[in-house]
Amino acid sequence: MSLKISIVGGGYVGLVTGTCFAELGHEVTIIEIDPEKVRAINDGKPPIFENGLGDLLKKNAGKRLRARTDYDSVASADIVFISVGTPPKPDGSANLSYIESASTSIGKVLKNNRSYCVITVKSTVPPGTTEKIVWPAVIQASGKTENEIGFAMNPEFLREGRAVEDFLHPDRIVIGCSDPRAGNRVADVYQNIQAPIIHTGLTAAEMIKYASNSFLATKISFSNEIGNLCKVLGIDVYEVMKGVGLDARIGPLFLNAGAGFGGSCFPKDVSALVSLAKENGEDPVLLESVLTVNEHQPHRMISIVEKRVGVIKGKRIAILGLAFKDNTDDIRDSRAIPVIQELVEKGACVTAYDPLAIPNMQKIFPAIEYCSTAAGALTGADACLVMTEWPEFSKIDKEFGLMAHKIVIEGRRILTWKGGEGICW
Ligand code: UDX
Repeated sequence: MSLKISIVGGGYVGLVTGTCFAELGHEVTIIEIDPEKVRAINDGKPPIFENGLGDLLKKNAGKRLRARTDYDSVASADIVFISVGTPPKPDGSANLSYIESASTSIGKVLKNNRSYCVITVKSTVPPGTTEKIVWPAVIQASGKTENEIGFAMNPEFLREGRAVEDFLHPDRIVIGCSDPRAGNRVADVYQNIQAPIIHTGLTAAEMIKYASNSFLATKISFSNEIGNLCKVLGIDVYEVMKGVGLDARIGPLFLNAGAGFGGSCFPKDVSALVSLAKENGEDPVLLESVLTVNEHQPHRMISIVEKRVGVIKGKRIAILGLAFKDNTDDIRDSRAIPVIQELVEKGACVTAYDPLAIPNMQKIFPAIEYCSTAAGALTGADACLVMTEWPEFSKIDKEFGLMAHKIVIEGRRILTWKGGEGICW
């Protein structure tokens, strides 16, 4: 079954989702306000770096996938997905203004849609948003009755760098809906994907996304807390977590201790859940601690440098890895940012290398020394901090020999290098 799909928001999630829906055989229009992004998508050139996306976009652009700046496609859509940003407000809660304005814009055009259409939220939103913000805004602007429209919430679980793979082979598909007819329409979109489908109410689907990301972040902060104690006691936390993770009730993934978690989702989503809990009179001590442990990890790495090299001022410190994780050029909330910030404040001469993320980091720290190779960053360095789990760092053993003092602090356990003083979690 081929459906007519409109997706509001051509950012990371909207673009990957839209391209993959087109690949599944649907007719997709991405609605995006940025004309440059629209042009890039229609030319089959991804405006972001994501493994496997370029080929799928090239294959489908101009055929089953197109991008527009207007909402016209909503007038003939079977289903509309909202995948606009929900950035954090200063207090950590989610800013829902883009969700609201997208809902109103959809409603205005939906007026002219003669068939049943389901409005589906894909953005990560606090429980109650689809029912209390999207639903009334669409109904008010469209003048439609609830028999003519359905509402759904279908969260995404796409990891950057592996988003296409995650989309095509998900662990589960979560569909929250206002009524079974709406839920079945969303399920039809995924009919060619093999995965269990969980049907829930709207608010439960919204909460599943926050709870999933917060649980993963909790696993990481828990491993970091154990790892910090292991460090003091001279125990290898990776050996410990291997033993812990083999218990099927715990699972082996997301137990890697080190620099902590970054990216556009975990820090933002845990903060939003903390805010939501507080607004509702709860005291979310566990979730707050997950954030606190994460904030402390970069500083702990620098304390180790200080213990080994003495005063930081004037020391040459190499940073390997700027992206918040491997396979992406994304530096949002990257743990490299607080590390570089503190090193610069303490007067270090920072050299940095990353295979993809240098242009993005240059916008934040224009004055540090960027190198086009790991060798360039390591030459003459007093210490090195590994901030990103790029697999290529396991192949540069010789380059570590170029350091003046071979002190390497591994914020991600990926090195095979055994020379000098390797210090890891
Ligand atoms: C995450 C979720 O995994 C995804 O399901 C969701 O929808 C979006 O947010 P993403 O932010 O792309 O995906 O990255 P992820 O691979 O989950 O890693 C997040 C951060 O945790 C990275 O900084 C990574 O380096 C760090 N991490 C991960 C650890 O520190 N230890 C681990 O064991 C695993």
